[in-house]
Amino acid sequence: MTGEPIARLRTLRSVALRTPEASRAAEFYQHVWGLSQIDGDDGTTWLRGSGQEHHILEVRQAEQNALGKIAFAVATPREVDEAAARLAARNIALVAEPGPLDQAGGGYGLRFADPEGRLVELSTQVEAVAPRDPSGIEAVPRKLAHVVLNTVDIDAACAFYTTVLGMRVSDWSEHQMVFLRCNSDHHVIAFNQASWTSLNHVAYEMPSVDHFMRGIGRLRHHGITPKWGPGRHGPGNNTFSYFTDPAGLVCEYTSEVEQVEEDAWLCRVWRRVPELSDLWGTAGPPSADVRSHMAGVPDTGRWWEK
Ligand SMILES: [Fe+2]
Repeated sequence: MTGEPIARLRTLRSVALRTPEASRAAEFYQHVWGLSQIDGDDGTTWLRGSGQEHHILEVRQAEQNALGKIAFAVATPREVDEAAARLAARNIALVAEPGPLDQAGGGYGLRFADPEGRLVELSTQVEAVAPRDPSGIEAVPRKLAHVVLNTVDIDAACAFYTTVLGMRVSDWSEHQMVFLRCNSDHHVIAFNQASWTSLNHVAYEMPSVDHFMRGIGRLRHHGITPKWGPGRHGPGNNTFSYFTDPAGLVCEYTSEVEQVEEDAWLCRVWRRVPELSDLWGTAGPPSADVRSHMAGVPDTGRWWEK
């Protein structure tokens, strides 16, 4: 059993951000970015997109900018319990045993840490919600599209997320980035080889390119212009427009991510040249400023032990 992945991940549900600027960041995600606040207590805010997830973002007050958690969906409580047994067989310690999740939306799940100290949650039976905007007219994020993580060892990170979590490699960008999927979306996680572990950025999916552009327009009316983009990436073929939130963390609007047919897909290696990272030729290279925000500050992880 040791060789099998611990579970079959269905979707990327949510991320948690930790920041000294939690209240300003939560305001931004609610009143500018387009999410709705659904719950909050002292220093923690939960925010929802227009899709079916109970929440897609949690913002929590902390000493420094860091990743709080990445949450994936599994199908059943039994899969959560089996994942716990398989983690034990791999000598990976649980941070939270299988059980009811004490957070907005509830559910049943478990938590453990990846090799760089990031908290990973698997959950099921989270509270159902009605989609917020059946008309699809409002230009707000529907769900999380992907999270990009800076790693000090891209091969080790890729090995853990493929062998332990069962993710598949969709593409490489030279030996600098690797794009991983857990469903038909080209990637829900990507790792970027870096000097230190940190969060690179969080991307939110807009329902169409039109929603994507109108979202950029709304930010412009708030006096916020893209730090990089709009454009369309080669790997994943998704549109991109990168911004920074009031905490200095990078957030992205994206749309039209490539859909992978599991049995037919062949992993490729993309050269890092302008015509492949910016297919439309509209964005140009990323500035030193946005690259510095994407590098962030070193995140030693395991914040729950401190
Ligand atoms: Fe992205």
